[in-house]
Amino acid sequence: MLRLDSISKQYPNNVQAVDNVSLEVADGEIITLIGPSGCGKTTLLRLINRLTEKTSGQIFIEGKEINRWNPIELRRQIGYVIQQVGLFPHLTVEQNISYVLRIMGTGKKKQRERAAELISLVGMDPSYLRRYPAQLSGGQAQRVGFARALAGNPSIILMDEPFGALDQITRLQLQDELLSLQNELKKTVIFVTHDIQEAMKMGDKIVLMRHGQLIQAGKPADFFIRPKEPFVTQFIGGSDFFRLLTFITVDEIITREKRLSAKASLPSGTSLADALQLMFQKNIPEIDVLDGQGNTLGQVSQKMIRNIAATISTDQGDNPLKHTIGS
Ligand SMILES: Nc1ncnc2c1ncn2[C@@H]1O[C@H](COP(=O)(O)OP(=O)(O)OP(=O)(O)O)[C@@H](O)[C@H]1O
Ligand SMILES: [Mg+2]
Repeated sequence: MLRLDSISKQYPNNVQAVDNVSLEVADGEIITLIGPSGCGKTTLLRLINRLTEKTSGQIFIEGKEINRWNPIELRRQIGYVIQQVGLFPHLTVEQNISYVLRIMGTGKKKQRERAAELISLVGMDPSYLRRYPAQLSGGQAQRVGFARALAGNPSIILMDEPFGALDQITRLQLQDELLSLQNELKKTVIFVTHDIQEAMKMGDKIVLMRHGQLIQAGKPADFFIRPKEPFVTQFIGGSDFFRLLTFITVDEIITREKRLSAKASLPSGTSLADALQLMFQKNIPEIDVLDGQGNTLGQVSQKMIRNIAATISTDQGDNPLKHTIGS
């Protein structure tokens, strides 16, 4: 487990980049970190691997404060994928990937084997190992950056806008690949992004920051249903509401009444988008949600989804749900 306890960072020029942030990331969980440019996301990541020293507070990895870790061991524990990839241009792909292993004094043969294993893991042909970063596409460079972060078999991976510079298609593809890799690898991940839709897709939990402070942390639905400040609603308001509904499941808003009421049902874990579509098709106001054994867990209604829609500010774009959903 990774635990941040009242972390602050004031740079020498008096910029308060991180302001009293506390946060827990469970083993195997992906947390996405979002917030406006300059709100302290990169600084927060760098405090965790000690590329930047915190001003106050404590950070625990596996129960041990980071200042008590051996710095080399700490870096091995934490993979880091930086904003704009940051591959070493004068090193080959293979040398980039095995960089951490070299620092750790791992033997040459082991380094080569690990590089070959990792390049395949991220979906690239081993022939790329001989290339230099300038000879890669943006998506390939990102894959190599991820392979490099995995080299020391870290338990924690920090990813700073890894897909920020990619075109939309490559970005969606790499998101899917990372999620399926994560199913196997079960790393503890903090993933920084500007994009709320990416945050909702990738994160088990989302953390929203502003001016160095943690404003809200929780599941996607919390941000719609229980926004802690008007800023939360403003921040998510600019996005495509229908797409957001695909990342929220019925379980997050369900009523917990055990009555069997509706004329149709769907399984737990279904997205709100699919639930809504089914209610439209069948022309019914609400629908039952069933567990794996077919027991009723509760209901969701068009009205409940409409109430979520109502929390989204309309000034940043038309919200079609307000017009299309009946009560
Ligand atoms: N080395 C530094 N010295 C002084 N101030 C810094 C330093 N690095 C960052 N800052 C300031 O700290 C604040 C937080 O910066 P940070 O890079 O953490 O933001 P960010 O959320 O990652 O932004 P972006 O989304 O643009 O990447 C900003 O005001 C920035 O100007
Ligand atoms: Mg940043």
